[in-house]
Amino acid sequence: MKFFIDTANLDQIREAQALGVLDGVTTNPSLMAKEGITGKENIINHYKAICDIVDGDVSAEVIATDFEGMIKEGEELAALHEQIVVKLPMIADGVKAAKYFSDKGIKTNVTLVFSAGQALLAAKAGATYVSPFIGRLDDISTDGLNLIAEIRQIFDNYGFKTEILAASVRHTMHVIDCAKIGADVMTGPLSSIKGLLKHPLTDIGLEKFLADYAKGNE
Ligand code: E4P
Repeated sequence: MKFFIDTANLDQIREAQALGVLDGVTTNPSLMAKEGITGKENIINHYKAICDIVDGDVSAEVIATDFEGMIKEGEELAALHEQIVVKLPMIADGVKAAKYFSDKGIKTNVTLVFSAGQALLAAKAGATYVSPFIGRLDDISTDGLNLIAEIRQIFDNYGFKTEILAASVRHTMHVIDCAKIGADVMTGPLSSIKGLLKHPLTDIGLEKFLADYAKGNE
């Protein structure tokens, strides 16, 4: 499973990259705003800065909601760097745009996916990634992980190449459960990745090993 970090915070992206397990980054307009990145030039420079830190795919979301606007914006974003993936909303024009970019060999990530039917449409359009938001489904008492399982089954039934990018991951157990189901990628906060490190028996065991070594090497 690929690990993407879901943030526009450069320090957190650097920390995840330094851990050696990062495969890419997802951003969205809310995450950019959270870092105070506003204005076209600043946003473009920020995407370039992210691409300079990581080796993998970097999702950059269009703001336009009409087909022509998405194509114009998406082409500008894709031209910024070879790692940029054009992120498109799951609306009719977004699906059309995914087909357009897919035909041109430009990578896409169809976002704001909340049903298996939406994921199927994105796959039919040739999207590189489809992003089901599991945390936001959990927030409204709907099983987000079940959606990942449904999409996995559908994509496997027909051999769709579109990768399932489990998004809106909130914590470490989401990561583990997505891996068990077979999501191709997960995107979550740095804490969801670092949480995988933790086990008290590791800490206790290491402390004992070091203490025993110290006793024998005084
Ligand atoms: C996906 O690409 C989105 O940026 C993201 O995962 C949304 O997560 P949230 O529900 O925590 O905002």
